[in-house]
Amino acid sequence: MSRKPVVLVTGANGEMGHGLIHRLANHNGFDILALDIRELDADIAPLCVATIVGDILDRRLLERLVSEFEIHAIFHLAALLSTRAEFTPETAHEVNVQGTLNLLGLAVEQSRWHGQQVKFLFPSSIAAYGLPTLDAKHEAGRVIENDWNMPTTMYGCNKLYCEHLGRYFTHHYRQLAAESDLQGVDFRSIRFPGLISAFTLPSGGTSDYAPEMIHAAAQGQSYTCFVRADTRIPFMAMPSAIGALLDLMNAPAEALSTHVYNIGSFNPSAGEFAELVRGIFPDADINFESDTKRQAIVDSWPEDVDDTLARQEWGFRPRYNLTQAIEDYLLPNIRQRYT
Ligand code: SER
Repeated sequence: MSRKPVVLVTGANGEMGHGLIHRLANHNGFDILALDIRELDADIAPLCVATIVGDILDRRLLERLVSEFEIHAIFHLAALLSTRAEFTPETAHEVNVQGTLNLLGLAVEQSRWHGQQVKFLFPSSIAAYGLPTLDAKHEAGRVIENDWNMPTTMYGCNKLYCEHLGRYFTHHYRQLAAESDLQGVDFRSIRFPGLISAFTLPSGGTSDYAPEMIHAAAQGQSYTCFVRADTRIPFMAMPSAIGALLDLMNAPAEALSTHVYNIGSFNPSAGEFAELVRGIFPDADINFESDTKRQAIVDSWPEDVDDTLARQEWGFRPRYNLTQAIEDYLLPNIRQRYT
């Protein structure tokens, strides 16, 4: 009995899932198997060969996938984001770590069946960094991948640890077994900055203030930003993020010296971003009222990232600078969405 060759996307109904599924279906012609805890939205469901509503913690469900599909690549996007994770840290650990472990196990299993490596694409985050003070943050400036790996959130700890799990599964999995399972998984990860999509809003993140601000303005709603106006972290438009994930997927393995890459694009302060939003929507009513606790999380994230490695090894280039992201991507699409 032949099984269908597919690319598996977990967290398919989330922010990144929407962008990725549109792109995979339209440009790459992959057959997509979508998994999410909620039913897939109507705009993306028809783009998938199969959609499954289920939990990545449900091992039986994952086993069933093995019997029906031949999975050649996994985009493991399912996660509880940083703010939500702080309300239920143990659950976040289950979903973010145990869930990833289950998917890595599925990748090994799949590669045993079809004899080829399974590419495992994993969105990590600037939350994997933890800078102890604002002074340290300002002094550090653009951080490189191996510095400041002391996250202060459960989500950040989970992402950092899963990066290591991916490296372990790629190079050391069951290293003492007589017949080694090495070469089963090819784990590749990007530490994404805050992402801004014109089509969807994130849920449960701490970088959400930027996308929330522009979506609120487009709908004529007032917005109270939960961080100070001088708060600065890197951001990126969703198409750049999806493009980078696909570029990393397609990069030749010999070109890659590591499993985890920073990528950057622009890093306006919250106040500078608000000014840009006001420039487009002159009636925008944006106020700042810092929430001490969420502020502390964003303050622990770097103000910029050094993405030299990604540029050198797999040719990363952001698709938009800040002005282009707003004028060419966010503005036309957001306007259309709300009119
Ligand atoms: N955007 C994410 C968050 O805010 C970080 O990766 O949780």
